[in-house]
Amino acid sequence: MPKPTPSSPTPTDKFTFGLWTVGWQARDPFGDATRPALDPVEIVTRLAELGAYGVTFHDDDLIPFGSDDKARQQHIRRFQDALARTGMKVPMATTNLFTHPVFKDGAFTSNDRDIRRFALRKVMRNLDLAAELGASTYVFWGGREGAEYDGAKDVRVALDRFREAMNTLTSYCKDRGYRLRFALEPKPNEPRGDILLPTIGHALAFIGTLQHPEMVGLNPEVGHEQMAGLNFVHGIAQALWHGKLFHIDLNGQRGIKYDQDLVFGHGDLLNAFFLVDLLENAGYDGPRHFDYKPSRTEDITGVWASAAANMRTYRLLRDRAAAYRADPEVQQAMAAARIGQLAEPTLGKGESIADLLRDRSAFESFDANAAGARGSHYVRLNQLAVEHLLGAR
Ligand code: GCO
Ligand code: MN
Ligand code: MN
Repeated sequence: MPKPTPSSPTPTDKFTFGLWTVGWQARDPFGDATRPALDPVEIVTRLAELGAYGVTFHDDDLIPFGSDDKARQQHIRRFQDALARTGMKVPMATTNLFTHPVFKDGAFTSNDRDIRRFALRKVMRNLDLAAELGASTYVFWGGREGAEYDGAKDVRVALDRFREAMNTLTSYCKDRGYRLRFALEPKPNEPRGDILLPTIGHALAFIGTLQHPEMVGLNPEVGHEQMAGLNFVHGIAQALWHGKLFHIDLNGQRGIKYDQDLVFGHGDLLNAFFLVDLLENAGYDGPRHFDYKPSRTEDITGVWASAAANMRTYRLLRDRAAAYRADPEVQQAMAAARIGQLAEPTLGKGESIADLLRDRSAFESFDANAAGARGSHYVRLNQLAVEHLLGAR
C-alpha cells in the first residue's frame, strides 16, 4: 500500500509559487484591490514556512517598472537575503510584457518596431538576473501578443517576429553561457481577444521552426487549455511525448469562461487526479508550480490558506493516484480494458508490410462484428478512479 501522506509539504515535493500569485491584490476589471500589497520578502518567508521549495517572479514583481539601478540592486539584494535565510530556490523567472501601456499591442509582435526592441532588452536584462539567481527555466507567456481585430495584425508576419525574438534570445543565452531553457505558455485569449500560440499544439508546431528548438519547450497552464475546451491531461501527455514539458502551471478552471486561476483541483477534479497520476508516473521531475490567484473574496489569512490548499490537494491526489494504481481490482479492470495492449506495436517484430498484407487473420478472416461487439469496460475503470478520489476505497 502507498505510504500515508505526511502532515505537511516539504521542499522535496518541489512546490513553487509565483510572487504574483499570493501577491495578487485582487484588482479586476470591475473593482479595486481588496488586499494590501505584499512584500516579496514576506512572500518568500511565508511560503517557506508552509513547506514550499521555491518562488518564481516577473521582473516587475520584484523590481517596480522604472526603478533606477540603485533601487533595482536594493530590491534584488533584499530578495537574495530572504532566499539565503529560508533556503528557498528560484527555479523559474519570466518577464512582465503585459502591464505597462507600452505593451498594449504586444511586445515581440507589436506592430511598433521600437516597442519590439524595448521588449527584447527588457527580457535580456531579466535573463541576466534569472541566470544569476540560478533559475533553469525562463517562461514566455505572450499575453498581449495578439489582436482583437483580424485586420489589426498580419498573423504570419507576427509569427516571423515572434520567432525572431525567440531566436535572438536563445542566441543571447548561448553567447552568455546561461543554462536556461525557455518555456512557452499558451493561452487562447485574455487579455487579448485572440492570443498567438493559443494552445499546446500551436506552440509545439512553432517550436519546431526555431533556430534552437532543443532550448525551447512548454509551460502549459491547466486553466488555459480548459478555456479552449481542451483536455489538459491529453495536452500534457503530448508535451511529455515530445520531450517538451519543461515546466507546468497548476491551477483550477471551471469550463470555458474567463481565466479563473482557482486553486489546483478546484476546477475539474477528476482531470486533476489523472494529471497528478501522469506527472508522477511519466518521469516529470520539474517544479510543481502553482499559478493561481487567491480569490478576490479572501482576506490575507485566506491567501495563505489557499496557498496551503494547492499543496495539500496535490499531495492528496498523489496519494489517491498511487492507491488507485496499487489496487488489484484496478489492475484487473485495466487488463480487462486492454490498457496494456496499446503498448504493443501493431506490426510484429520484423514484420514487413508484405507480411501484413499476407496475414489473412488481419483482414480477410478478421471478424470485425465480433471485435466491434467487445465491451471496453472503461466506465468501470473510471468509477474505480472516482471511488479512490472520494476515499471510498
Ligand atoms: C495567466 C498567466 C500568467 C502567466 C504569468 C507568467 O494566468 O494568464 O498564467 O499568470 O503565467 O504571468 O508570465
Ligand atoms: Mn491563468
Ligand atoms: Mn500561468
